[in-house]
Amino acid sequence: MPSRNEYSIHCFNCGSKPVYSEHRFISHQTENKAVLVEGLSKEYTIGSSTTRVLKDISFSVEDSEFLVLMGPSGSGKSTLLYLMGGLARPTSGRIWLGGSELTNRGDSQVTRLRHDKIGFVFQRFNLLSTLSALDNVSVALRLTLFPNGNGGRKMARPEELLSLVGLGNKLDHRPSELSIGEQQRVAIARALVRRPAILLADEPTGSLDRDNTVKILEILKRFHREQNQTIIMVTHDPAVAGQGDRILHLIDGKIES
Ligand SMILES: Nc1ncnc2c1ncn2[C@@H]1O[C@H](COP(=O)(O)OP(=O)(O)OP(=O)(O)O)[C@@H](O)[C@H]1O
Ligand SMILES: [Mg+2]
Repeated sequence: MPSRNEYSIHCFNCGSKPVYSEHRFISHQTENKAVLVEGLSKEYTIGSSTTRVLKDISFSVEDSEFLVLMGPSGSGKSTLLYLMGGLARPTSGRIWLGGSELTNRGDSQVTRLRHDKIGFVFQRFNLLSTLSALDNVSVALRLTLFPNGNGGRKMARPEELLSLVGLGNKLDHRPSELSIGEQQRVAIARALVRRPAILLADEPTGSLDRDNTVKILEILKRFHREQNQTIIMVTHDPAVAGQGDRILHLIDGKIES
């Protein structure tokens, strides 16, 4: 095994500091990775108590891969998705999205990268309560800060996506006028409408019955197949997990393969 000193050179692409992982030099082997996570840790402090939720995690996700993330409740799955989506900052470690580093950017640049690349299905949906289903999906297009901000991909039509998830007859319903499973399907349509290169989906079928679970998985796999979309999906359901290309297990803040 080579020593770290043998790799103590600066990157010939950009001159930045090299990155080490288990004595491997990995800096700038990032280009064909949808996501690269290196030495990621996250702590939360409440009062005098600090909880270490993610503990020095490293892994990568290939372009167009469908990765499933499993693990017990409280093991840090949602936290990890939040960090990869630029919705929270790590305590230490680095994250690249499609070869661009997320973790060395200021807030506005993080927002921009997120807009460029990420669709996010929140575990608790995070729908806007005063808006209809259609407006909840359309707003993701209208609030576009950067007109070509999804890498030049054509946007999907909100009505069509809502029909696809089985809600074509409920476009005018507000979240409070929808069942939990219907709200979850609105959240999925909202995450897909910008046709993101990377979909981060936190238990996207967690509130669905079997028929709708099958239907949503078919939609996700269609986006994955037809648009080379990378998917990172959290689930507790082994049948759902079996649909992915690879499963990562997160146990007590660490990846176990
Ligand atoms: N904002 C926060 N402040 C303090 N602690 C937090 C915060 N967010 C999460 N945690 C803690 O981090 C741990 C991991 O939470 P996380 O939501 O990532 O778990 P999870 O694996 O997604 O669980 P579940 O399967 O129940 O959704 C939990 O113990 C939780 O209490
Ligand atoms: Mg969670």
